[in-house]
Amino acid sequence: MEYSPGLRGVIAGETSISTVGEEGTSLRYRGYDATELTRNNTYEEVASLIINDSLDGDQFKLAFSKFYEEASHDDWLTKIINNLKEKGLHPMDVLRTIVSSGKELDSDTQIELAARISATVCFIIASYHEDETDELSDDYLVASSLMPNGSDSHMLEALDDMLILYAEHGFNASTFATRVTASTRADLTGAIVSGIATLKGELHGGANERAVELVNSFNNTDEAEIGINELLKQKKKIMGFGHGVYKIQDPRSPIVKDWVTKLAKSESSKNRFEIAKKIDEIMDEKKNLFPNVDFYGGLLLAELGFDVSMFTPIFVAGRSVGWSAHYFEQREQDILIRPAAKYTGK
Ligand code: COA
Repeated sequence: MEYSPGLRGVIAGETSISTVGEEGTSLRYRGYDATELTRNNTYEEVASLIINDSLDGDQFKLAFSKFYEEASHDDWLTKIINNLKEKGLHPMDVLRTIVSSGKELDSDTQIELAARISATVCFIIASYHEDETDELSDDYLVASSLMPNGSDSHMLEALDDMLILYAEHGFNASTFATRVTASTRADLTGAIVSGIATLKGELHGGANERAVELVNSFNNTDEAEIGINELLKQKKKIMGFGHGVYKIQDPRSPIVKDWVTKLAKSESSKNRFEIAKKIDEIMDEKKNLFPNVDFYGGLLLAELGFDVSMFTPIFVAGRSVGWSAHYFEQREQDILIRPAAKYTGK
């Protein structure tokens, strides 16, 4: 048996949900170019495509609204969220704990099961706003549940695009964790909890938080140049750069960068963007590495007003439909995932 560290380049299963980097830089959800989907479709339509192979988002919207409404009237849920917040847990740990307590009903369709998880995640994130949204937008349902009251349609559109680009990404670490759990015939809730726990790490979804913290640690482009060169000299990894599959470009990055260009209007935002572009330039020059979705993605979420600790939870809000789709697919295939190990001991 051949050994490939980190399973790089190993085909570990079959899927009809997405292709990542097939033509070098492309990302396709059920055959549709994901970047085109950001231009022509909403997150709810893309969620339906990923789960159900249909761009009709009505069923997803209906189910999401129903479960979101249910969550907002669930006193036990509000109490437990507040208790966990008081303990000072990171919002990712709050998500992981509360999603774990969710009920699954056998009678629910796949769309309803996925929408229930999505609504729970969004409700938890929304509970962190001082000013909760009382009316959800019909056009950008999920995005509006996540944004504070009074967000303009430009901001909702930007977040909707971010969620579409986060929605699915083949056999990435958190999706693979979800599939491993599914492969034992465990329940969907448990599989999603595996996904959340795995996404938190800084080499995966947690990179968006670390990337913005790094950008914010510099006051200007000169400081950034000195700082990044020093980190590279120490052989440190710069979060938000490089990718396990894409080798030329991450197709999601230009879309989120475009949004930052449009939204960064204040002096401090413009300065942050200049620092980020400087880091991008140095990484290209010195390491021939490109920004992945998390670099400018983190900047976009900061521009939309989210606290850094909410960045990876927002990633969960987008990715939960991808995890659900992979759960259903793995259950249908019904193959236990059980690779071999190369023994290096005595
Ligand atoms: N900063 C600095 N150097 C990096 C780097 C980064 N972000 N990403 C890769 N490299 C370097 C490695 O140090 C290594 O150099 P070496 O050959 O001199 O040892 C080389 O590039 C290959 O690294 P490796 O980790 O094996 O590449 P990979 O393509 O398998 O890894 C990631 C992909 C995502 C794990 C890696 O790029 C990374 O850790 N990025 C930062 C975390 C991140 O942004 N994660 C989100 C991914 S969407």
